[in-house]
Amino acid sequence: MTFSSSAARNLIPIPLLDLEAQYRPIRGEVMAAIARVADSQRFILGEEVRKLEEEIAAYCQAAHAIGCGSGSDALLLALMALEIGPGDEVLTSPYTFFATAGEISRAGARPVFADIEEDTFNLGIEQVAHQLASHPGIRAIIPVHLFGGCADMDPICELARVRGVAVIEDAAQSIGAEYKGRRAGSLGQAGCFSFYPTKNLGAFGDGGMVTTSDPDCADRLRALRIHGSTEKYVHRWIGINSRLDALQAAVLRVKLRYLDGWSEGRQRNADRYRQRLGAGDLPVRLPAPSGYQTRHIYNQFTIRCRERDRLRDYFEQRGIGSEIYYPVPLHLQPCYSELGYKTGDFPVSERLAAESLSLPVQGELTADHIDRVCDNIESFYREGYGNNR
Ligand SMILES: Cc1ncc(COP(=O)(O)O)c(C=O)c1O
Repeated sequence: MTFSSSAARNLIPIPLLDLEAQYRPIRGEVMAAIARVADSQRFILGEEVRKLEEEIAAYCQAAHAIGCGSGSDALLLALMALEIGPGDEVLTSPYTFFATAGEISRAGARPVFADIEEDTFNLGIEQVAHQLASHPGIRAIIPVHLFGGCADMDPICELARVRGVAVIEDAAQSIGAEYKGRRAGSLGQAGCFSFYPTKNLGAFGDGGMVTTSDPDCADRLRALRIHGSTEKYVHRWIGINSRLDALQAAVLRVKLRYLDGWSEGRQRNADRYRQRLGAGDLPVRLPAPSGYQTRHIYNQFTIRCRERDRLRDYFEQRGIGSEIYYPVPLHLQPCYSELGYKTGDFPVSERLAAESLSLPVQGELTADHIDRVCDNIESFYREGYGNNR
């Protein structure tokens, strides 16, 4: 049997993320970096990590960057460095990966949630102001720069300043994103990054980084990641063991050189989605570009529609990857039942949890791939799958 070229094309799967496609062209450089570390036999922290820290600090427009074991640990370390713990409350979004709230709890503090903005998926300012006014125990705000786009940081930082609380950016998904020309990770007291492999800058395993421009905070973070030790076998604080290893740092240093190109590819694909899906009258809502967002890095391109689950099945049957980030908002997680939230408390987060679908957007995808995803969305509605049936 022979296929016409377009029929054959439609059989090739489009995964949500194809890490191999990103790795293939840089394999030689990555292998050389790995060999360099293997030959040195220095695996924990050391020169590779120090150099990566310098490079990430410069990239994120921060004075200091401190490598650690994961994005989750970056959040925990930032909270510990700001001496937030038992008896304190920390305000954040319920529409994020679990780690944001989980690390607040792990620090011994209590998460307080505020609902998000419809179009940006990030903390709403009025909601933040409301929760600050009704929770005197709040000592920090963690805005999450979700999906690669920054939260509206000026009003958040102003509310925090007036109230005298810290701002820790959860920039795990947003390395290189810009708010009014300033980079994620340079906008609060500390910025937390993840190098989990699916991030725009992904390691070959777990890894994380905290950025800060406060030298005292940087010193505390450097100690806290090695059990609070400031000199060998002298422990000024009780910290944790969370060190970035040299192999991850060496891989990340190679990949950092390609990061802007990869993020530009994602922006190009996001533009293509907007051109294609924004033009017609499809009942699909696109992420809205906001005025303050001067650089979105599209770790995810996330659309919304009422028929989300059926559209996802339709994609799956046609080899198109998609993912639901996030199906259960954090205020409704079983482990947080003791916080006393209930369904209906954060209606925007709950609606988005029921309607969001992230589409393939990585820079290696061509306009042809994006068109195929869009063709399928169009045919889904044209063939009536969008109706209740
Ligand atoms: C918003 C957010 N915060 C924190 C984290 C935690 O990062 P890690 O998986 O590196 O611990 C992630 C990772 O997915 C994330 O997306």
